[in-house]
Amino acid sequence: MPNTRIAGVGKYIPEKVYDNAYMESIVDTNDEWITRRTGIKERHVSADDEYTTDMATIAAQRAIEDAGMSAEDIDLIILATVTPDYFTPSCACIVQKNIGAVNAAAFDYNTACTSFVTGIVIADQFIKTGFYKNVLVICADCLTKATDYKDRATCVLFGDAAGAAVLTADESHPGVLAADIGADGTGCKSITSLAFRNDDEELEQRISKRKETIWMAGQSVMKFAVKAMADASNKVLEQAGLTYDDIKLVIPHQANYRIVDSAIKRMGVERDKVFLHLEKFGNTSASCIPVALAEVVEEGLVKRGDKIILVGFGGGLTWGAVLIEF
Ligand code: UT7
Repeated sequence: MPNTRIAGVGKYIPEKVYDNAYMESIVDTNDEWITRRTGIKERHVSADDEYTTDMATIAAQRAIEDAGMSAEDIDLIILATVTPDYFTPSCACIVQKNIGAVNAAAFDYNTACTSFVTGIVIADQFIKTGFYKNVLVICADCLTKATDYKDRATCVLFGDAAGAAVLTADESHPGVLAADIGADGTGCKSITSLAFRNDDEELEQRISKRKETIWMAGQSVMKFAVKAMADASNKVLEQAGLTYDDIKLVIPHQANYRIVDSAIKRMGVERDKVFLHLEKFGNTSASCIPVALAEVVEEGLVKRGDKIILVGFGGGLTWGAVLIEF
């Protein structure tokens, strides 16, 4: 049976930066509060005419190049976003056209910030069954276009980015060693962004009264996130019969320093095995994990044969972890 190897990774970060001083100038907040409560110093923001598929296309091209492949080699493109360019066509189809992946099937999926982990699990099923050989997983979001800049509790958190990975069938590589994904729909109102449904209660919660902006119940999401990430990470270790001593790096969803810190304590993993970049980028939704993965590969912090855990949580509510031999 073929295993699923990460053949290439790529990321795209827009140039424009909103630092904490800028946030102070537009909303009633301050650097001290943001730093202490979240750990975020800067977030990157897409240009006015730059959208999810523009960022996704660049990250995808970089991942394909890193894999030493061409776009024609890709059999399937799956793309996760909560800020699509259109309801239809899917962003995956637009990226397929942009990169010339003429042999690829393409569809979008959505488990919010958990989506890179979910994407690896989806790709792993197609690859292990022999259905597809090369799957391109892309996560991209223009969260700042769905941000309520009058709501200080959320607007300081979000940034824009895209991350991608090419996963390939490889008989001789262990690849994805364990996975755990899950959902708790009873928490569906904890993080919301409205589409067509008329929901007065939701609208009322938004200071800007813009339906599509993201609202969340920060405290309850935090409690959920700590337990969900720690439990999922510990579960994949147990499935694989390993301990944190066998793990080179844990890459968590980069939502908030305090969430990660509490989750780390619950996991029992050393702090220096956990990669964080949220100071520079803030919460970029599902892009956090693949962007971080591209960074650690570029920086040589993860090499072939190293075992890593990717673990996330997000709207839905959803969670997931994968343990991979890189
Ligand atoms: O990708 C998954 C998405 N979700 C998340 O990751 C979010 C998870 N939750 C969080 O990260 C945290 O809940 C927040 C960072 C959003 C908020 O931190 P908190 O410790 O839960 O603060 P809080 O909402 O309980 O607010 C504490 C105080 C409040 O003032 P009062 O009522 O005590 O006077 C807020 O109004 O802090 C105030 N506050 C702020 N003050 C300055 C809220 N946001 C700000 C702000 N600047 N930006």
